[in-house]
Amino acid sequence: MKNELYELTRKRRSVRRYGAKRIDDDVIHEIMKVALTAPSSFGHDPVEFVVVRDRDMIRRIGACKQMGGSQINGADTVIVVMVKTADKRTSEFWIEDGAIASSYILLAAEQYGLGACWVQIRNRMGLKKTSDEEIRELLCVPDGFTVLNLVAIGEKGENKRAYTDKDLDTKKIHYNLFRVAD
Ligand SMILES: Cc1cc2nc3c(=O)[nH]c(=O)nc-3n(C[C@H](O)[C@H](O)[C@H](O)COP(=O)(O)O)c2cc1C
Repeated sequence: MKNELYELTRKRRSVRRYGAKRIDDDVIHEIMKVALTAPSSFGHDPVEFVVVRDRDMIRRIGACKQMGGSQINGADTVIVVMVKTADKRTSEFWIEDGAIASSYILLAAEQYGLGACWVQIRNRMGLKKTSDEEIRELLCVPDGFTVLNLVAIGEKGENKRAYTDKDLDTKKIHYNLFRVAD
């Protein structure tokens, strides 16, 4: 059987430069549908998303991350990934739940031939408060959520080589016992 998922994952690279072409609303919606199929701890589905397509708002979100936030300025869309951390049932696994949903978005974007990049927000600072606090304030996010990261999406403005079998360090896969390679 052809490894179709590998064909997709090996092509996915972090794309940080974007073309000016606007992405159809329908395509963004299809990508978000994929995110909603991501697994979550105990199936509590604590991850929510704010899909930002307004250029000025994208710039203001970028300004909430002092170091490197401006990298999202050319993106067509920025998905703000947040998790309900106030709820005791979901707070323990919030990073895992947010990360796997974000991974799905990255892959779905590649499936549509779009460039995308994870932009870290957790443990990052804005001008006065944490990036998380500043972004939640900007987007009127109710109490109880924490922003884990952004996913910037846009027309690919740079071409990156797809990974091949040669790039894979298969020594990192240990079958049955952890075996140190010679
Ligand atoms: C947890 C995490 C945080 C990341 N944070 C950023 C970031 O803040 N800015 C950025 O440009 N890329 C970020 N990246 C993307 C990585 O730099 C990128 O995945 C890595 O260099 C490998 O390149 P590739 O995605 O092209 O395979 C992050 C990736 C992960 C998984």
